[in-house]
Amino acid sequence: MKKTQGLRNIAAAIATAGLCAPAFAQSAASLAFQNAVKGPPPGWSGPVFKLSRDYPATVPAQCPECTWLKVDVNFRPKFPPPEDNVWSSGKWDEYLKGILDYVKQGQDPQLDNKVGFQINVGGKTRWFNVPWMAYDPTVGREFVHGTTNERTAHLQDLIHPQNDRSRGPKPVVGANSIAGATPECEAQNKAGFETWSVGYYNEWGGMAFGKAIPKSGVPQVTTYMGTKVPAGLPFPPGTVVVKFLTTNAPPECVPYLKGSPEWQIDRHVLDTANNKYTCERKVQISRIVQVDVAVTDPRSPTGWVYGTYAYSAEQPGTTFWDHLLPLGIQYGSDPWTFPAVPKAESIRVQQSVLNPGVNIYQHFGCEGRLAGPVDNAQSSCMSCHGSAFAAPDGAVSVMGTNVPASFGFAGMCTQYSVANTDYFNNIIAPQKFSGGNFPDALPLDTSLQLEVAFQQYGQFNTYKAPAACMIGK
Ligand code: HEC
Repeated sequence: MKKTQGLRNIAAAIATAGLCAPAFAQSAASLAFQNAVKGPPPGWSGPVFKLSRDYPATVPAQCPECTWLKVDVNFRPKFPPPEDNVWSSGKWDEYLKGILDYVKQGQDPQLDNKVGFQINVGGKTRWFNVPWMAYDPTVGREFVHGTTNERTAHLQDLIHPQNDRSRGPKPVVGANSIAGATPECEAQNKAGFETWSVGYYNEWGGMAFGKAIPKSGVPQVTTYMGTKVPAGLPFPPGTVVVKFLTTNAPPECVPYLKGSPEWQIDRHVLDTANNKYTCERKVQISRIVQVDVAVTDPRSPTGWVYGTYAYSAEQPGTTFWDHLLPLGIQYGSDPWTFPAVPKAESIRVQQSVLNPGVNIYQHFGCEGRLAGPVDNAQSSCMSCHGSAFAAPDGAVSVMGTNVPASFGFAGMCTQYSVANTDYFNNIIAPQKFSGGNFPDALPLDTSLQLEVAFQQYGQFNTYKAPAACMIGK
């Protein structure tokens, strides 16, 4: 009784001070594992996301279903790099197909909105989510599918003149020339499109999360080979991550999205008068545009292989999975290629292997490294993910200050510089970020969702309230 009264007084005092009282009253344990920033409204009859958080305490030493780990692919760099595209000859097509076969086991053939992605496969929980991603009311998990908001994609990122196979960071010239994309469509979507996505780790990744962020909700740090890392890291062999990315771009604008699963997403409302997204959220339709995967592979120079698929209406087949067109894989950032080295010394990329059989628009990252349709074309999967680090001691992470600038810096991909050399380098956990700039940052073994989790815990730990909404400001 007394205790409650005391808490009420504190809450009242905090409310007077202008802080968010309920956030204070909630514990790290409850905030870390909440399902969504806001639950469904009364009378809601659609799907409801439940955070998969019963992380296994132990996992088998080997993953028998990880068939790709037995595919004979070659991770050794060659100087000069191979002339031919090694997508098929190097068995990367088989490697990536094995991962998709594993991911789609036990899933709905259409990945229908009502069913979503199933966490149980063959009678046990195979897929787990990352905690602390439902704290921020602006971009945090929504209640229908558990997606979170990322960088807003612009129309140019999603559409491209038919059969233009040009590579590199060259911006696409105008949306008018696109088959099927009317000038009205472009004019009507000046604010760009929102990417909301949801990621799942299998048991091997889930076990690591259970150690890194246990039931207390407070991230745990341990020492691995002399370096401070989150407990449970590096991720063990057998780890698989999958991420479904949605866009609100309609198929009238982006022809290859025709037939893609339409998911209900509790996302930002567009103020059509001002062409700006607002802080208000409402359930609206988005479509699955890209599926990303990442697996640990002890043979890789970074310990990882990243791969991506684009939804393509043109792919033959009847299921959602049939329509996933593999775009390529990446296991390193090609530190021998511009802008990690000067143009004169630059050699062809070889740690990204792109599917040459892609006949819809493909979106490559910096200098032909791999990136997906909604990713930053000045970056690449491995370079952005290689910069996954967290501020130590429960502090707030500030990119470029106490953790690397994952999303960009002046001259990214456009000039040879120290920043580019560091960003397009290969490191393997528990190595520190190249260049020695962030000596205290904790290596996260490429997990940017774990970076979000540490960041959100840091926000809670420091301010006891999430950051204010900045959308449209
Ligand atoms: C410019 C940065 C950037 C690029 C480029 C990028 N990602 Fe990510 N990725 C993120 C961020 C940030 C997250 C965590 C937030 C989230 O999942 O919503 C993430 C999450 C993921 C996850 C979930 C697991 C994790 O590490 O958090 C996978 C898998 C993934 N990305 C794969 C890819 C693949 C494959 C590519 C290339 C086709 C790619 N990413 C390119 C920023 C990037």
